[in-house]
Amino acid sequence: MLALESVSMNFGGVAALSDVTLAVAEGETLGLVGPNGAGKTTLFNLISGVFPPSSGRIAFAGRPLGRAANWKRARQGIGRTFQIPQPLHELTVRENLTVAQRFGAGKRDEARLDEILELLDLADKQHVDAAHGLALTEQKALEVGKALAVEPRLLMLDEVLGGLETSAKRAFGGTLMTVKERFGLTMIVIEHDIETIRTLCPRAVVLNFGRIIADGTPEAVFRDPEVVRSYTGDAAA
Ligand SMILES: Nc1ncnc2c1ncn2[C@@H]1O[C@H](COP(=O)(O)OP(=O)(O)OP(=O)(O)O)[C@@H](O)[C@H]1O
Ligand SMILES: [Mg+2]
Repeated sequence: MLALESVSMNFGGVAALSDVTLAVAEGETLGLVGPNGAGKTTLFNLISGVFPPSSGRIAFAGRPLGRAANWKRARQGIGRTFQIPQPLHELTVRENLTVAQRFGAGKRDEARLDEILELLDLADKQHVDAAHGLALTEQKALEVGKALAVEPRLLMLDEVLGGLETSAKRAFGGTLMTVKERFGLTMIVIEHDIETIRTLCPRAVVLNFGRIIADGTPEAVFRDPEVVRSYTGDAAA
């Protein structure tokens, strides 16, 4: 469903991603992990079309994405959340979803929005001011809701579980799996918490300094000495 071939991204002198080749199959839930600054968010930005790669190719559903704008990619079925929740100010929760749906799916479908609000436990909050009236979990749920309003086939989640307490994390992780089943999604999940990756993802890819250093089951990759070193900061060892 998604294929990256030798993708690199440089920001000035910083190589945020170097020669990344990665295939994600339809229906997969892939965990994307790695230390701060490893290039995880940059990967999402390249796939969703925030900026083009310095080199390499990205194909979605068998077709090269080329330089297609981010809204075109949304309409092809690529949805994502942002690491820092970005609700539209002055708008309610439901209005935020409406705008995301207009932009990403190019239509209005109130029944789908009702279902999204229900699944994400936001129905009671739908008329609340999104910028000021939500608890942290609800802000995260809204971020996921906006991505779902786009009607994605691929959903990319950037630390939506970050900062939540263990019990909230478990509950929200369960919600994400329900959402995945309901909408038949392929998911890529960026997450620092190893336990969460183990629970949600049959496969994990580890980035370090912009390169893939491991790809396999969570059990295998988190035992990999190079991965352990990358997390303890002893990258040169
Ligand atoms: N728009 C940008 N302009 C310049 N440099 C950038 C930009 N985005 C990312 N970088 C740099 O690219 C590298 C990778 O950053 P990225 O945000 O992808 O890491 P990350 O793995 O998501 O980290 P974190 O876990 O902290 O979110 C970092 O060195 C970062 O400073
Ligand atoms: Mg990031």
